[in-house]
Amino acid sequence: MNDLNKIEEVANYIVADGKGILAADESNPTCGKRFDSIGVESNEENRRDYREMLFRSEGMKGNIGGVILFDETIRQAAEDGTPLVNVILDQGALPGIKVDQGLKPIGDSEESLTQGLEGLDERLKEYYSLGAKFTKWRAVIKVGDSLPSEEAVTSNMNALAEYAKLVQENNMVPMVEPEVLMDGNHSIDQCFEATSRSLECLFNLLDEKGVNIKATILKPNMVTSGSESQNKATVDEVANQTIRCLKMYVPDDLPGVTFLSGGQSDLDSTAHLDAMNKIGGFSWKLSFSYGRALQQPALKAWMGKKENAALAQEALSHRAHMNRLASEGAWSASLEN
Ligand code: 13P
Repeated sequence: MNDLNKIEEVANYIVADGKGILAADESNPTCGKRFDSIGVESNEENRRDYREMLFRSEGMKGNIGGVILFDETIRQAAEDGTPLVNVILDQGALPGIKVDQGLKPIGDSEESLTQGLEGLDERLKEYYSLGAKFTKWRAVIKVGDSLPSEEAVTSNMNALAEYAKLVQENNMVPMVEPEVLMDGNHSIDQCFEATSRSLECLFNLLDEKGVNIKATILKPNMVTSGSESQNKATVDEVANQTIRCLKMYVPDDLPGVTFLSGGQSDLDSTAHLDAMNKIGGFSWKLSFSYGRALQQPALKAWMGKKENAALAQEALSHRAHMNRLASEGAWSASLEN
């Protein structure tokens, strides 16, 4: 890990051998929602305790190559004083940081443009000095009858490309996350179209701005039907449509595609990833960068109580292991028991 001098090597390290990413970069309000669901107060200490517990899980080793942090967490120390960044490194994973600053509505529409380019260069320099090796920026694309608009796609993909260029100039690997939301009753075909438009625009702009694709990680949504759709796509449909879409737009020399879970259940996220890797026929590593789908069982087991830590760690370790197997197309439902 110490000889990861080039950003290409960092990108390859994160997704080597089926490893994926633990997304633990919930903003304080989002973390508050997660903690509300188990009746735990979201304060700085509880957020630290929860994340320290996750990062110390046995199953981080060999299954997780990177952890995405929120601004507060990259500055925090564990209970014994060890910086959390070092706890992560000791598990063989690289620390990353979310650098976007959330969404702002476009005019009075229901679409949004991700903020955070202002002052980004200075923030990146600080994050690098705090140990970050990679970064994340999330753009959000909404599907609807006449959505996404051309403006939402173009302005969001342009911000992603500008961000990626600046991150590489600061010696870190950019994760680019153009998330087409599952929210809504749209069909899998509508998701395919919105995802296609976003990826086509994104890779054109990355190329135009001279972003080094070999040192970039893509964090996309899977191509699925909307979460309220009456006609839910099967695992095989999701796997086939997602691969078809990625193959149309993602350059062969991109090292890794690490999916977000986006509200899919933990088991669906694993089954979809496994099905895609069983199909194969692409050059990139196809792996995971899950937030909810990795953490949900651990959060439920924890309930804010120290005495539940071992059970919660087992739950995270299990999901990390299952998803690593899925990244190699080696998972089966029977391994879940
Ligand atoms: P989910 O896997 O919960 O969608 O979170 C991943 C993430 O980092 C969203 O930006």
